[in-house]
Formats: sequence, structure tokens, C-alpha cells
Amino acid sequence: MKGIILSGGTATRLFPLTATTSKQLLPVYDRQMIFYPLNTLIKAGIRDILIIVAPEHSGQYLNLLGSIFKNHGVNIYFEVQKTPRGLADAFIMGENFINKDNVAMILGDNIFEDDLNESISNFSKGGMVFAKEVPDPERFGVVDFDESGKALTIEEKPKNPKSNYAVTGLYVYDNRVVEIAKNLKPSVRGEIEITDINNEYLKLGELIVNKINGVWLDAGTHDALLEASNIVKEKGISQNFHPIINEAIEEFDLRLKNLAKATLEAHNLILRK
Ligand code: DAU
Repeated sequence: MKGIILSGGTATRLFPLTATTSKQLLPVYDRQMIFYPLNTLIKAGIRDILIIVAPEHSGQYLNLLGSIFKNHGVNIYFEVQKTPRGLADAFIMGENFINKDNVAMILGDNIFEDDLNESISNFSKGGMVFAKEVPDPERFGVVDFDESGKALTIEEKPKNPKSNYAVTGLYVYDNRVVEIAKNLKPSVRGEIEITDINNEYLKLGELIVNKINGVWLDAGTHDALLEASNIVKEKGISQNFHPIINEAIEEFDLRLKNLAKATLEAHNLILRK
């Protein structure tokens, strides 16, 4: 299975922080936000990952992630999304990368506490999404269920939500998703919607909806960003990362420190601990 992280967008709600960098490169506790969705994909055994970024931040992504996994068997690819056309654009931009494989797409600002590797690794056909009970479902894609727990409808930001279950920002699809995405018409907000893809699979009777219990965070506002850091620290989420990521970050740190040390030594100065 291939992995895509959608990490573009303008994030105006986080100005002035996002005037200088991408939202998904802002810190959540002790590491950049993008490491959390990367961890979800790597834990699920995915080793080929396409990161879709906005043009103004592409250099920053390359600096951080361009070679960090070089010795760890994870291949990172980049695509630049010129305008935020909608979440479904990930599958159009990623067509060649996905090739004939299945694909898991995760939003670059979504943080999951649960390990979802089992569901993702066992996926074979159709579509699969993860639903989380929230107090404010009208902010999200909302799924409702019949008594037996079967998904009935998915609506994008409904005024009168039929349930409290938000569709989270992690989506797993078989290869048909590319054609489905290419045939979508933009919604009233002018975007090609992931909710329309989910409804397509729902119509085919091939959408699995897994309910999740652990914390789910999308750090879209200043308060949510602060809360995300606090929850990550409290629950030790970043301590529970896949060793590949922790090792890669440690090596990256060491490389930067050695570089700083060499620069200081060249001026007869000593690096402070
Ligand atoms: O967070 C889960 C929700 O994500 C789902 O419940 C909704 O069904 C889904 O539509 C989406 O909701 P939003 O409309 O709130 O997503 P937003 O526009 O905030 O985009 C999510 C992230 O994806 C954001 O960090 C920026 C990035 N993005 C967004 C678009 C539209 C891109 O990289 N490219 C894009 O074209």
C-alpha cells in the first residue's frame, strides 16, 4: 500500500504563525506536526509516502524530510499543489505515484492516539474511514449508522448532523479511487470533496467505517494547537512512535548539532550543552 500525506493549504486561521511556515511544520509538543501522520503511516507498514505541499513551503519540507529516512527504508516523495482544490485532489496529483496499488491518505494536521495498523494492514478492497464521536460534528464530514452499526449516509459539514460521529482525516481506498476522484464535480465551496468519494464507495456497499476510541486531534486553531501539545505530552503519544521515526529524528538532531559544533569550532567557540 502507498501512503499520501496532504500537507498543503493556507491555514489562515493560524496567522501569524502560518505567515512564515506551513501549519503542518508547526511544533506539536516536541516535534513538527507532520511527524504524527507520518508515524501513523509508518506504523501501518507503509514505506512509500508522497507528501503534497504548498509551493511556498516546499523548501522547508525538503530540508526536514528530504533525506531523514534515507537509511531507514522509507521513501519520501514530494508533489507541489499550486491551489488547494480539495482533499480528493490528493488522488489526482498522486495518480502516477499510486500506480496500481491501494492507498492510505492522511491529512498532515491529523493526530491519532490509536494504533490503526491492524485495520490498515488488513485492508484489501473498497474504502475504509475512521469515525470519532465529537461534540461539534457540524465542523466535519458526518457519518450516521443504522441499529446494526452499518453506515447509512455521509454528509459534509451538515447544519443538522444526523449523528455525533465525525469522519476523521485518514482514508484508505483501493485503486479505483483515482478514477472516482477524476470524475468528481466541485462542491458549492468549490472543492472536490473526499465526502463524495466516500459516498461513492458507500453506494457500492463497499465502505467500511471503523469507530475509534482514542484521542483524535486536528490542530486547526490556536487553542486546538495548544491543546494538541498538552494532550500529546500528557498521553505520551510522541514517546510511542515507531522506532524508525525516533531514530531518524535523533540522527537529524545529531547532524545539526555536529554542523553547529563545526561552525563554532571554526571560530574557536564551544558548543553549549
Ligand atoms: O479533519 C477531518 C475533516 O477534514 C473531515 O471530517 C471532512 O470531511 C473533510 O472535508 C476535511 O474537513 P475540512 O474542510 O475542515 O478540511 P480542510 O479544508 O481544513 O483541509 C484539511 C487539511 O488538508 C488542511 O490541513 C489543509 C490540507 N489541504 C486542504 C485542501 C482543501 C490541502 O493540502 N490541500 C487542499 O486542497
